[in-house]
Amino acid sequence: MPTHYPIYCLHFFILFISVSSSGTQTGYSTSSAAKLAMFVFGDSTVDPGNNNYLQTPFKSNFPPYGQDFVNHIPTGRFSNGRLVTDFAASYAGVKENVPPYLDPGLSTDELLTGVSFASAGSGLDPLTAKLSGVMSIPKQMECFREYKSKVEEMIGTERTQALLKKAVYIISAGTNDFIVNYYGASGIRRYSYSIPSYSQFLTQQLQELIEDLMDVGARRIVIVGVPPFGCLPAVITLYSNQILHHKRECIATMSSDAQGFNQMVKQKAKELERNGSKIYHVDIYETFKDIIQDPKEFGFNKVYSGCCGTGLIELSYSCNAQSRLCSNASEFVFFDSVHPTERTYFLVFKALIPTIDLVLKSD
Ligand SMILES: *[C@@H]1O[C@H](CO)[C@@H](O)[C@H](O)[C@H]1NC(C)=O
Ligand SMILES: *[C@@H]1O[C@H](CO)[C@@H](O)[C@H](O)[C@H]1NC(C)=O
Repeated sequence: MPTHYPIYCLHFFILFISVSSSGTQTGYSTSSAAKLAMFVFGDSTVDPGNNNYLQTPFKSNFPPYGQDFVNHIPTGRFSNGRLVTDFAASYAGVKENVPPYLDPGLSTDELLTGVSFASAGSGLDPLTAKLSGVMSIPKQMECFREYKSKVEEMIGTERTQALLKKAVYIISAGTNDFIVNYYGASGIRRYSYSIPSYSQFLTQQLQELIEDLMDVGARRIVIVGVPPFGCLPAVITLYSNQILHHKRECIATMSSDAQGFNQMVKQKAKELERNGSKIYHVDIYETFKDIIQDPKEFGFNKVYSGCCGTGLIELSYSCNAQSRLCSNASEFVFFDSVHPTERTYFLVFKALIPTIDLVLKSD
């Protein structure tokens, strides 16, 4: 497998032409009703492995990542197993897991039932992705447009339009903008923005994505709010002096910044709803807060450190096959020092089921 691809999605477009002209497209073209597809944009919370194909230090396609995934495959998901979007896709009967768009081996059926364009380390602020060498949101949108052209070649313009109209679009980003680009040691944005004005700026970026998606035909858009990011183990380690395992707690000011941002996005989502298009804002903040406030109730033992290594700082390459591991990841809220375990993601998914039902019922 090649270690990296040019970020430009054009490469895959060329790849596709040769497939479609060989006449391998069957099955789908005989059925007239569009299948339900899911399209995903954002950061590591929803990246199933796009970064495997990019030159970036933000990767997780090696053990112990994926240790509890099907066949223990480290796919590039930043967790020990599946993501919320994977659980949601199976629940909706779309497919078992949502694959990364940059995977050059995707089947026609995989393409037509949806892919993720998300890229770990990315954010709503294009500068966040630039700092990490990953795909910014505008770049992800560019890939989506390329995807659309591919699919038009496969099934025609009209059917593509029907597919894009019926699809559910999920956007999950924002945490990295705050924790890397604002509070961080290299947090350039801190010098030019206050928290409210930065939140405003991020909301504006999100609005551009939403409008772009609507222009392409999206009618059901789900925006995932940010979690209390002042509770991420690495954030506690880096931005407070609570190094010791005992006596660690969430950084309250950051969590209230997260809430402020969520409120702003929620308001914007309402304003942007157009005729026939629905925007859902899903609150994962409260679910995380409930878990963190009463972990035992949910079967967790460890909240403020991850399962991998010391759990205080390891992430991406510093969480690797040589790292010491906890014996039962399901007892940990976090797998590495930033990303939730599969079990946490499953609990978040469970809390979202009423919203997922609502989204699926609408059309
Ligand atoms: C919304 O759609 C309905 C029916 O298609 C139409 O009658 C109405 O004028 C539209 N409203 C706006 C604001 O576009
Ligand atoms: C691992 O932890 C989970 C959650 O607390 C628990 O349900 C499960 O039984 C544990 N597994 C083992 C092998 O101890």
